[in-house]
Amino acid sequence: WMDEGSGTPTMMMSGHHNHANMVEVSALTGDVSVPADTTYLLVAQKREMTLASGAVVEAWTYNGEVAPELRAQQGDMVEVKLINKNIDKGVTIHWHGYDVPNAMDGVPGMTQNVVNPGESFTYKFRAEQAGTYWFHSHQQAAEQVRNGLFGSFIVEPKKETIRYDEEVTLINHNWNTDQGERTAFGDQDRMQRKQVEPGKIIKLRLINANNQSQKYLLQGSDYKITSIDGTPIQQPESLSDQTAFRLAAGGRYDVSFTMPDHPVLLKLGESTDAEGPGILFYGDSPPDTIRFQTESSLFDPSRYGKPAVNEWTAATEFDREFTMILGNRMGFYNGKFNYLWTINGEVYPHTPTLVVKEGEKIKTTFINKSLSEHPMHLHGHHMTVLKKNGKSVETPWVTDTLNVNPDETYEVAFTADNPGMWMDHCHILDHAAVGMMLHLMYD
Ligand code: C2O
Ligand code: CU
Repeated sequence: WMDEGSGTPTMMMSGHHNHANMVEVSALTGDVSVPADTTYLLVAQKREMTLASGAVVEAWTYNGEVAPELRAQQGDMVEVKLINKNIDKGVTIHWHGYDVPNAMDGVPGMTQNVVNPGESFTYKFRAEQAGTYWFHSHQQAAEQVRNGLFGSFIVEPKKETIRYDEEVTLINHNWNTDQGERTAFGDQDRMQRKQVEPGKIIKLRLINANNQSQKYLLQGSDYKITSIDGTPIQQPESLSDQTAFRLAAGGRYDVSFTMPDHPVLLKLGESTDAEGPGILFYGDSPPDTIRFQTESSLFDPSRYGKPAVNEWTAATEFDREFTMILGNRMGFYNGKFNYLWTINGEVYPHTPTLVVKEGEKIKTTFINKSLSEHPMHLHGHHMTVLKKNGKSVETPWVTDTLNVNPDETYEVAFTADNPGMWMDHCHILDHAAVGMMLHLMYD
């Protein structure tokens, strides 16, 4: 079933799940006869595009756009029709971080059939969670996301808790271009300039659509991280512009700052290249030279503000506990001798399945015994981080994509409140494609 030559989906397989499974999960969709409040059409199609630098990408896109934005109001019934025009191996849409009913989760061969060229599929779910999310194809995701099949999914809250005057959504991604790999915000791989009136509060929605964690620096103003993976931080503290932060692959932060009377620079990574990629916010006129500072510390979510939801205490009794040891070894996969990424020494589909019952409290421990980071992404649920390296964190935070660095151990908790069959995998999608994924299943 994983033979690449056979045309079966390889990132998220099919085959060993029987049809009975698919019938069962489709019962979990909820009442889709309710009329939609927000409707979108996304047509998966190839399009050559040119980045700001002139580098050319043979992109695979939704609607021929780079990272299109879908926007809804909290509480809306959202309906998104996906049509595949010409992506040969088929596409889907996975709502990354969004706790949709299982049949809407977009995992081919598991929650739906892949959408082949000429076919369509309609996603419908109620947008209960407000915040910054994103979506991407889950068919051969390593290749399809790298080529551009992703966009942002923004749900505006019924009631805004943190006021802002302007918002900017920024999705960082590394493109394979005719001039090599280029890091960009959307299709902007050069420094952008944006005029903002001093005194205005700017909200940045940052989404890491790249295949590795991404460091950000915001310089020229104090700032606050107001939400992590779509979940608001209560009483966020002010951070100095000497503090860098790092987004997990697939992770999101909302960041806000008040525009001062001098420029503010948001830049990606270690580069001090004045031509970007990054954004320069300026008041009256853009400065002639861009000054870079070096950072002195890295943001640590385990001691910041207060989490919005924390039902977990030291006294919580868990119904089930699982341990995942993240590792690597050499071995055969898809008929090729390869470097494999393993969970408890196994590669998917031989990795363990987490079996839970609805309503149970689950604790999962991640132990990274490899030399790479692994952003662990759980579908359909939100995890609360309780312990890091054996010690309780000061402020448990809610995440759907937790970056686990080499030698780190994390304990996370979640409630089994969304029945179905779900993926839990590394969001370095090349790692997932050679083993690092497993299933969460309801008994
Ligand atoms: Cu963002 Cu299973 O993926
Ligand atoms: Cu990994």
